[in-house]
Amino acid sequence: MNFRDTMKINDVGHLEIGGRDTVELAKEYGTPLYVMDESYIRRVIRAYKSAIESAYGHGNLAYASKAFSSMAIYSVMKSEGVNIDVVSGGEIYTALKAGFDIKNAYFHGNNKLISEIELAMDNGIGVIVVDNIEDISMIDAIANEKNIVQDVIIRTNPGVEAHTHSYIQTAKVDSKFGFSISNDDAMTAVKAAIAAKNVRLRGLHCHIGSQIFDKHAFVVAVDVMTDFIVEIKKELNYDIDELNMGGGFGVHYTDEDPRYTIEEYCNYVKIIVNALNDAIETKRIKKPYLMIEPGRSVVAEAGITLYTVGTIKDIRGIRKYINIDGGMGDNIRPALYEAKYEAINSTRANENPVEKVSIAGKCCESGDVIIKDVLMPKTVRGDIIAVFTTGAYGYSMASNYNRNPIPAVVLVNDGKSDIIVKRESYDDIIRNDVIPSRLK
Ligand code: LLP
Repeated sequence: MNFRDTMKINDVGHLEIGGRDTVELAKEYGTPLYVMDESYIRRVIRAYKSAIESAYGHGNLAYASKAFSSMAIYSVMKSEGVNIDVVSGGEIYTALKAGFDIKNAYFHGNNKLISEIELAMDNGIGVIVVDNIEDISMIDAIANEKNIVQDVIIRTNPGVEAHTHSYIQTAKVDSKFGFSISNDDAMTAVKAAIAAKNVRLRGLHCHIGSQIFDKHAFVVAVDVMTDFIVEIKKELNYDIDELNMGGGFGVHYTDEDPRYTIEEYCNYVKIIVNALNDAIETKRIKKPYLMIEPGRSVVAEAGITLYTVGTIKDIRGIRKYINIDGGMGDNIRPALYEAKYEAINSTRANENPVEKVSIAGKCCESGDVIIKDVLMPKTVRGDIIAVFTTGAYGYSMASNYNRNPIPAVVLVNDGKSDIIVKRESYDDIIRNDVIPSRLK
């Protein structure tokens, strides 16, 4: 069970997060409810930043906001002085509305729309991440129209594929993202970016996967990337100013996963920095500005989701379903990736587990089961269930499937709580519906 620092069972036997009793939060804001712990997020950000600062002294991080995007989170990132990674006009718009200066943003995407590039440039986007060859001519042309020179970095594919617990090195070029280094594609892109008049090539990017525990994968990736930097210098006499090593640091969902303290998460940074420092020395390259781009590890463990138990179906000898008032609409990951989670009956957090149950969502789909086989105390209608580690790719992947409203998000911090995303109403659900007059 993931009782990380600001989570504990309090005096009345309920789960507490960020100094707030979760049963009280459920009463106050209703369920389903996403709860995010601001202090945890800020401490992870600060730890990453200071790890880069102390070990390397020339870099920063860009929070990959696809993991959890809302105006409040961009405000947090702004106040922490870090960059963000955005991947759509919607994320850019949200950041702008939150007052985030997107000169500190990296705009990613394998199919950036012209309108998105224009929105980004009109608001002074810092860096556009070139993902394919058309990006370069498109960015160059739009920058030319706007009479600016646009900084870009090139997303490469170093052929290191990291999975949760291991990695493989491949020369696989089949990916919808980036340019492969193993054939000539990445070098061709570098040449095209250098040649483009209204583009300035600032650096290189790679992202080797998500939910990675095998840290050696990053060492290999740094090696491939710095070899490529050497090649660019040799062939084109061009210095790469910035190296962005992407995100992907693995987090604890269940006891099958390692559990890291915030300090231990920084080992990812230290390993990348050590490998880079070695490469700078042995390969004699100019020290690049180092960026990392973590999403999941910043917000996943900051978040839990609270649900209320409704009906209970006991199929004797087979399975007991505890049905909750949310499900795949607020957390698609179990249905989509067979992702595993842990949960607690927050109302009875002090009681001994006595039965194995499955926590099922309320959507019309058999696969809408949030957790299969979890031990729970005797659970009854009205109990509050807390699912752990839902801060990343939960709200950001939420949907209105079955026309269920998307839940509210509450930010807790040291005993305080504030709504940062309001619960959708039924009126919100129909706000874009139109009945043509011929149907009336
Ligand atoms: N940078 C790039 C270019 C990425 O594509 C991603 C994630 C990240 C950074 C952040 O990676 P993280 O630190 O969060 O692992 N929906 C999936 C995860 C998709 C990740 C996509 N890219 C999930 O729920 O597991």
